Amino acid sequence: MYNLENARRLINQEYLRYFKTIKNNERTHIWFREKIEHSNDVLKVGVDLVKKEYPDIIQEEFEELQYVFLLHDMARFREAYIKYYLEEECVEHHGEMAYNILKDEIGCDNLPILTAIKHHGSLPHMVYEDEVYISIKDGDAKNRTIKYLKLVRDADKIANMEIFARNTKLIHKINSTYVGNRMGITDKVYDSFCSRELVNYNDVRTYVDYMILFLAWIFDFNYKSSFAYILDSGSFEKLLDETILYADDEEKIDGLQKISREYIYSKLKHNIA
Ligand SMILES: [Fe+2]
Repeated sequence: MYNLENARRLINQEYLRYFKTIKNNERTHIWFREKIEHSNDVLKVGVDLVKKEYPDIIQEEFEELQYVFLLHDMARFREAYIKYYLEEECVEHHGEMAYNILKDEIGCDNLPILTAIKHHGSLPHMVYEDEVYISIKDGDAKNRTIKYLKLVRDADKIANMEIFARNTKLIHKINSTYVGNRMGITDKVYDSFCSRELVNYNDVRTYVDYMILFLAWIFDFNYKSSFAYILDSGSFEKLLDETILYADDEEKIDGLQKISREYIYSKLKHNIA
């Protein structure tokens, strides 16, 4: 039931439904296609991580994970419809929206799947405060929830790092939104990085801050294979180079380089999952 075939059917259904509704809006259509590509990338990276980290995984779990990977952003199309077509404020996070679609419209009652999708983009501690997660009494289901969540969070971030590193045009699209000081590194952003923490989006003030937000994703990685992935592909170095190219503060640049290198190599030495 929760397998790749059904996940593909579902995501295509959501995509087509809103693609047809939002007519004559090229920007949204491009965004829709990017989301489909991203979902497939997360599936690819996710499967790769599972094979490396859990080589003996049982088939049922493997299929459920494929379902989570492909559907984690399934609500992005509905979110765009609300924001750009209805021009209404979208109050729900797309993870929460996907959770509600799957639960109420599809009838999914698999709590590890639902919870992993709901929290794929929230702050790491939030799952532990979630009533649904707390309500899971079965130890095995609780472990599976955290396993699915860790894998989808890592795969999502890796896939995004890969795409930004491969296509700097995408980064420059973001760059154009920072018309003021693009090169500075805001203290709060730098301090988060030095504390080995995720950067809060609300603290981002400049283009370089935005780049640092991406770099800081490594502090949320859960698996040794995730560090190996971004190192082998060269995506982390590329993003770091891009940051250095634009940043104007030598001292902070040195700090970013030193901290990230030390962090990645220390994690590669240890098994952390
Ligand atoms: Fe997402």
